[in-house]
Amino acid sequence: MKTYLVTGGAGFIGSNYIHYLLGKYKDVNVVNLDKLTYAGNLDNLKQVENDPRYKFVKGDICDEKLVNELMADADVVVNFAAESHVDRSIGSPDDFIKTDNFGAFTLLEAARRTHIDRFVQISTDEVYGSIDNGSFVETDPLMPSSPYSASKTGADRIAFSYFVTYGVPVLITRCSNNYGPFHYPEKLIPLFVTNAIEDKDMPIYGDGLNVRDWIYVEDHCDGIDFVLRNGELGEVYNIGGGNEKTNLEITDYVLKKLDKPDSLKIFVKDRPGHDRRYAIDCSRLKKMGWKPNYDFEAAMDKTIQWYVENVEWWKKIKSGEYMEYYKNQYNK
Ligand code: NAD
Ligand code: TYD
Repeated sequence: MKTYLVTGGAGFIGSNYIHYLLGKYKDVNVVNLDKLTYAGNLDNLKQVENDPRYKFVKGDICDEKLVNELMADADVVVNFAAESHVDRSIGSPDDFIKTDNFGAFTLLEAARRTHIDRFVQISTDEVYGSIDNGSFVETDPLMPSSPYSASKTGADRIAFSYFVTYGVPVLITRCSNNYGPFHYPEKLIPLFVTNAIEDKDMPIYGDGLNVRDWIYVEDHCDGIDFVLRNGELGEVYNIGGGNEKTNLEITDYVLKKLDKPDSLKIFVKDRPGHDRRYAIDCSRLKKMGWKPNYDFEAAMDKTIQWYVENVEWWKKIKSGEYMEYYKNQYNK
């Protein structure tokens, strides 16, 4: 029976990963360490809260004492905990540096003082920066351009240094943009889907021609699991969906699916330093035998349907702190 210490497990990808793990394997224990920031939501884990293999611990990955205690019982660490929203990192980068860098450092320090089998640092394709043509391979230089992607790059390289210097069994994954259930409705897809359902504007930054590569969250979870079992220690693995879309294409898809008018599209001031295009080459994982399972349209339809059926989940979030943030952003 392996014990997984999953950090940030109450967030979007972390909660999907916990569902994936407990669903796929009988012989795992999961300890979810999460600070429950604005993005952490225990509603995401209602289906597993009474599972005897699952335990929630409210706490900060920067808390050395707590992290040492939890690390002592862990076999595998998967570090999802991070401040994750680019727009917020532009407004106030401090928590990004604290959590994404000092938090990763605290976990790695604890890991090097005990025995663990694997430490997966969940990094992102944003560490490479923007690329006009072609796509990045794992050995390309890192050129992050937002405080978010720069703090994630710091964590990515701190993790690597702990492998090289101290022999911590680190694996690093760099995934593209995820979509799916439990996605906090400040990010493009859940914001636009829920706004469209409510007949509210969809604020497109700049000309809407920025490109992201979209992957269904369950495929990301599956990719992490594959890397954990088959990856070489100290190595980096790109995980992408192979679905490059402009933001306008995503917006039009959502409008069509929900049968909403084009007039909901509004063009707003561009994000400062807005990366034009993210693209990663995933041939490394492909050669090892992994590929995403979900087709883009089928998974988008499933995702949109999830938001249609789970109005209570996102309505609860779209009140309170969230609304304050958005009022200040666009005076809407
Ligand atoms: P999220 O913002 O939905 O979740 C982050 C979680 O971390 C929340 O539950 C939050 O409470 C928790 N957290 C924040 N600070 C913490 C701290 N100091 N201690 C403990 N817990 C803390 O983010 P997400 O979209 O689920 O992303 C998860 C990870 O995956 C992040 O590391 C992110 O950089 C990475 N990633 C995300 C994407 C994407 O498309 N969302 C793509 C590639 C990589
Ligand atoms: P986002 O979901 O914030 O992810 P990231 O910036 O990490 O890729 O944004 C995805 C794309 O959508 C990005 O190009 C910015 C754009 N965007 C908008 O046009 N309007 C919005 O309201 C948001 C949140 C994002």
